[in-house]
Amino acid sequence: METKEIKAEELDPEKFIEEKVEEIRSIVGDAKAIVALSGGIDSSAATMLGHRGLSDRLRVVFIDNGLMRDGEPEQVASTFKELGVHVEIIDAQEEFFEALSGITDPEEKREAITQTFYKKVFGRLVRESGARFLLQGTILTDIEETMAGIKRQHNILEQLGIDTEKEYGYEVIEPLRQLRKDGVRKLAKALGLPESIWNRMPFPGPALAARIIGEVTPEKIEIVRKATAIVEEELKYGGAFQYMAILHLDRVTGMKAGKRAFGLQIEIRCWESIDAREATPTKLPFDALEKLAQRITTEVPGVVSVTYNITPKPPSTMEAI
Ligand code: XMP
Repeated sequence: METKEIKAEELDPEKFIEEKVEEIRSIVGDAKAIVALSGGIDSSAATMLGHRGLSDRLRVVFIDNGLMRDGEPEQVASTFKELGVHVEIIDAQEEFFEALSGITDPEEKREAITQTFYKKVFGRLVRESGARFLLQGTILTDIEETMAGIKRQHNILEQLGIDTEKEYGYEVIEPLRQLRKDGVRKLAKALGLPESIWNRMPFPGPALAARIIGEVTPEKIEIVRKATAIVEEELKYGGAFQYMAILHLDRVTGMKAGKRAFGLQIEIRCWESIDAREATPTKLPFDALEKLAQRITTEVPGVVSVTYNITPKPPSTMEAI
């Protein structure tokens, strides 16, 4: 497929949709294709193009790695149901937690998640389904970052370390590879995707595991998931670029129900940014911070301390790992 850039301002979404739908149809022919939908804007747009071109011959799966936010798999499936797309939720939670067990190094955690996704879970699904084509929402920035060695997780061929066509008999289709994020946003609107998708806050591939210092366990995910839901609820109308809750490894002495408790610490981060390459902490009103501290310490079991990050990126990064 073509890799010449189409700038957002040059993009005629209707014409692009027509061309790509036709292209997907002609490549896939009578065969079957599969797509792993995450609910992010890129995989959502790729899924819609594939659905328009292939209808039931496209199998749409959402891989539940156990690291997603509260209710996320069901929300994504129900959003797509309204658009006439059936999403299968694949429960792979155990496999991911098993792969993460005992790992504390940030890069090793990321690697364990990537390998479990591409090599184990998705590889198995593709083989089982007999799909010959894999639809991916790779965009131009992903290709450039992969080639520059900044980020590799989007290059599925490299992740698998094999020639997929030769090994598994499937080919990768990347209909968005000429676009950047702003172009995909324009396309997503034209494809009828709701604002909750095209205007979605960025969320990292390693999901909530990127927000736990130290080993990732189901219990720690549950804590950070609860804190995340509160932070998102309280800050969603503020218009910040991204906001999150992080679970620290260190404990501190606090008080719960009048008794000494050696409890957990949650750090809140809220960012102003254009493209996530640099970012500054939002100057949140103190009232909002106090409400967050009050809610998190009462609603999330075991938490006795809430802090707010006041360091810009760099030297901080946006996520904790
Ligand atoms: P950092 O933490 O690197 O994050 O300052 C910058 C932006 O990228 C998101 N992020 C990721 N996105 N896969 C992704 O697709 C990842 O592995 C990943 N890690 C971080 C992060 O949420 C922020 O918006």
